[in-house]
Amino acid sequence: MEYSKLRYKEILALIERVEREAAELILQAHGILAEAKTGKRDVVTEYDRRVQELLMERFRDALPEAHFFCEEMDEQDRLDAEQLFIIDPIDGTMNFVHGFHHSCISVAYAERGIVRIGAVYNPYVDEMFTAVAGHGSSLNGRPIHVSDAGLSEGIVCFGSAPYNPELSDRTFGLARTLYDASLDVRREGSAALDLCSVAAGRAGLYFELRVSLWDYAAGALIAEEAGGQCCTADGGCFPADGSKTSILAGSPAAVKDFFRLTAES
Ligand code: IPD
Ligand code: CA
Repeated sequence: MEYSKLRYKEILALIERVEREAAELILQAHGILAEAKTGKRDVVTEYDRRVQELLMERFRDALPEAHFFCEEMDEQDRLDAEQLFIIDPIDGTMNFVHGFHHSCISVAYAERGIVRIGAVYNPYVDEMFTAVAGHGSSLNGRPIHVSDAGLSEGIVCFGSAPYNPELSDRTFGLARTLYDASLDVRREGSAALDLCSVAAGRAGLYFELRVSLWDYAAGALIAEEAGGQCCTADGGCFPADGSKTSILAGSPAAVKDFFRLTAES
């Protein structure tokens, strides 16, 4: 136990160091050109690719056996690998392209399908959110905890599941319901940072009806290790095969209020 704790701390330190190095590419980016992937809302830039390449190169140097499950990769490695990095090189690419300074680098480290470490770095405000399974979450080295407040006393973040227009009516219907039931809603444009906002007690709840594993793997561990609850929007477990899913994360009080409210409507 103590051995793995030490080893996880070393891997976390590696991830933090490499994220900070790669963040320079984001901060110094210029002439950013968006290329459409599956549609006009699903975009990639040369910076997404360069950040991912740098992260993979550094992680491979340190852990040559490691496998990868990354957003800008044509084929993902096996999820149940002995050592796996789950990487979103720029979460919030649309923000990045349009100069909204709210994006991050998200890295999770998993062993045999279980996420052990998460690190989400927002270079614009120099905020490093981290967690090691079983050892709590931190923001720039200081412990963080979800809010104690119920849904009515907090802010709700949501994602619009932008690549799935068939979910828009349900998404905005739910956002409207939660707007009425809370203090206000936010659509900030980065699922990983939304999860960290829950972890830090800034938001009481976050939901999105379709996300990918790289969007939430690190952030969900950070939210859970900060005392939060994470599940699918209907209260289920996330798919073990890493396929796309809905997500709900929040303080225990806000999650309870969410299910009471949605059961009524
Ligand atoms: C997206 C962001 C966005 C969320 C989408 C994600 P990307 O990730 O996290 O907030 O609504 O579902 O795909 O494409 O910027 O890496
Ligand atoms: Ca993402």
